[in-house]
Amino acid sequence: MAEFKKRMHALGLPKLANGELKVAPSILAADFGTLATEVAKVEGETDWLHVDVMDGHFVPNLTVGPPVVESLRPHTGMFFDCHLMMTNPGDFLEAFRDAGAGSCSVHVEVGDTEGLCAEMRHLGLGVGLVVNPETPYEAAAPYLRLVDLLLIMTVHPGFGNQSFMAEAAEKLAAARAQAEREGLQVTLQADGGIDVATAPLVASLGARCFVAGTAVFHSPDPAEAIRRIYGAARAAVSVSR
Ligand code: DX5
Ligand code: ZN
Repeated sequence: MAEFKKRMHALGLPKLANGELKVAPSILAADFGTLATEVAKVEGETDWLHVDVMDGHFVPNLTVGPPVVESLRPHTGMFFDCHLMMTNPGDFLEAFRDAGAGSCSVHVEVGDTEGLCAEMRHLGLGVGLVVNPETPYEAAAPYLRLVDLLLIMTVHPGFGNQSFMAEAAEKLAAARAQAEREGLQVTLQADGGIDVATAPLVASLGARCFVAGTAVFHSPDPAEAIRRIYGAARAAVSVSR
């Protein structure tokens, strides 16, 4: 029964329909003391939640782990997209899956990318790979065929509310070109400094999933903030078609 309950949440990355966009609010910018209430503010507008996991080693900050994911799980039906800023993500993938993660994303900089992707696939998790701003796109290119989601960091990982790095966003175009060339169904995600002003740029470069922390949870009206990001991104996608 316990096993059955654990499997009630969606496992594996939901496929986006052609032209579909997804805003994934990052709980990093939410009030950790009232997380369920914070999530309730956004779940009417989108169904993905971005969970930033920091280990104090891969990045100089600490956040949450599987126990918090598990505590939040009964409070919402949202898909949990867990961004693992960890040196040793492989030690925790199963724990995140059992806690309620639907996908995990590991950084290409930690190495053993093939092994980690295989393990996520084996566990039924959506398979995500992350590229830091200073890492060239070529480091991720060989693994594109293995992943469901490629996350291009548009800030240095570790903290919210930093300025968007346009030069890092350009990797999205390289990823989109490779995915088209090789016929791969990969969702491109942008994370860091995403708001109404920057979402159009990453959307025009190929991003279909937009992680936004500060722009959503520091807004007086998080639901309206999400609607505005959707509106800005949709306008850019329809122009670039
Ligand atoms: C940074 C995190 C981001 C961050 C985004 O390490 O990966 O998800 O929460 O926050 P904002 O939207 O404030 O840049
Ligand atoms: Zn993140």
